[in-house]
Amino acid sequence: MKAGPISIPQPGKNMAASVPIDIIQGLGYCESAMSEITRFGVSLDSGLLHQFDSLIGKLGYANRSEAIRDLIRDRLVAKEWESGSADTVGVLALVYNHETRELTETLNALQHKHFDLIIASTHIHLDAHNCLEVIIMKGPAALIKKTSDCLLITKNVKHGRLITTSTGEHLD
Ligand code: NI
Repeated sequence: MKAGPISIPQPGKNMAASVPIDIIQGLGYCESAMSEITRFGVSLDSGLLHQFDSLIGKLGYANRSEAIRDLIRDRLVAKEWESGSADTVGVLALVYNHETRELTETLNALQHKHFDLIIASTHIHLDAHNCLEVIIMKGPAALIKKTSDCLLITKNVKHGRLITTSTGEHLD
């Protein structure tokens, strides 16, 4: 993808405020009308911009603005996790052999111990031996991480991964 020029920003210009009222009241406008949109300019090395455009093109983004919004949200969510105390959402996936008694017991005990942290879990029998357990947790980041680590390091977990996401409460 060829790196094109970034549109020239107008400092302090409020895009939402410049849209005619009849369009704002029309169907389909509700979502964007809820928040204020501000345009700003970004100075970037052309090589870096080319790399960025190439990356977001491969990912399927229609424009730079949406890609930048997602990058910012990603960093904000990472910050929530770094704080440890912020309420977050974590999704832990574990693949294991159900014939391993120790793991089944650990899973069961931890889910009872942290019943207030674990908001949902799903067990899928992948085949005659292998199981997939998906555990969804909501609460302090540090507690989610600790609970996940206890499960991930349990003997005979074949593979596992914690997806660290957000409650969405502090994201626009
Ligand atoms: Ni199973």
